Amino acid sequence: MDSNVSLSFPLSVDSFRKSLVLSNSQEQIKFEGIPPGIGFSIIRDINDQASPLDLAARYNVDIDIVREFLLTLSREKLVTAEKLPFFKGSQISAVLSSCYKQWNDTLFSHRLWTSLADGTARSGVVDGWLIESYHFIRGANARLSYAVSLCQDQRIKSIFAHHYSEEYDHYKFFAESLSRRKIDPLHIDELGPLPSTLAVLNMARRAARIDPLAYAACSGLLESTGSDSGRAREFYGLVEKNYDLDQSGFVEPMVRHIDLDEEFEHGDVMADVFNPIEYIEEERANTILQTVSLFRETLSMWFDEIERYYYTSPYRAGIRYRFVQTNSPRDRYVYSPS
Ligand SMILES: [Fe+2]
Repeated sequence: MDSNVSLSFPLSVDSFRKSLVLSNSQEQIKFEGIPPGIGFSIIRDINDQASPLDLAARYNVDIDIVREFLLTLSREKLVTAEKLPFFKGSQISAVLSSCYKQWNDTLFSHRLWTSLADGTARSGVVDGWLIESYHFIRGANARLSYAVSLCQDQRIKSIFAHHYSEEYDHYKFFAESLSRRKIDPLHIDELGPLPSTLAVLNMARRAARIDPLAYAACSGLLESTGSDSGRAREFYGLVEKNYDLDQSGFVEPMVRHIDLDEEFEHGDVMADVFNPIEYIEEERANTILQTVSLFRETLSMWFDEIERYYYTSPYRAGIRYRFVQTNSPRDRYVYSPS
């Protein structure tokens, strides 16, 4: 075989130290007749469109061994003569980073954020933003643990698990902010989140079901908002100036949260997941980008609902929502003002 070939996907290298073992979605195939390390290197370089002659020279191996290896890969349908488009993980990571930058500029130009920064948001909207942020941060336990449990790739799974071990209790910063603002976190737990806060969490869980890389892309968007710590600190400074007139210090725990996340370097998690990946086929790359794009839209709708809901229905301490089962649907919800 003298023509260039491309790898067929799905394909993974299961091991190459003692012997070269490849697997696709149906079977695991062990290769003999070529030194495993050289076979692995050829596999790694195939999609660079290197010719058999180049490969033989590059690895100082007989051209006939290279040709025979490529023929075997072709017979086993692990490579194809078609030129399949693919991307390196680092390319996708660069695309995502540039999307995050543009999307964050748009997301944080939303009136929810600009009104908090310029002091024109009602006090009820400040409470609402804090309440839903608390639910959302607490929701790391619903999305990150789920992403860990579904991930089959051990390298990515351990990155997710490490991230989860550092994030699971960060809602406590927001609980402290709520308490300082005289909002009881236990009451907030009882009321539950807005539908759009749940939608954001459910969208992240859906991404984890689609592909761990889709989840990593969505998680990366969330972390990119916190990793611009200068911008976040400036924003929190304005919220404090505009809304903490009785000096409760409710902003301070959130600033401590920014400091901690910065120390953990969570802004680098997406690149850590993507950068070592050699091949991401075009269809998979499209799915990843479509999923994170939908996630961005969900975040934007989340901001809409927080602003609209708490503008008209500010939080009231002591209000209770009881579920009463009766035979008549209109009596299902009983509203009890304090
Ligand atoms: Fe955090």
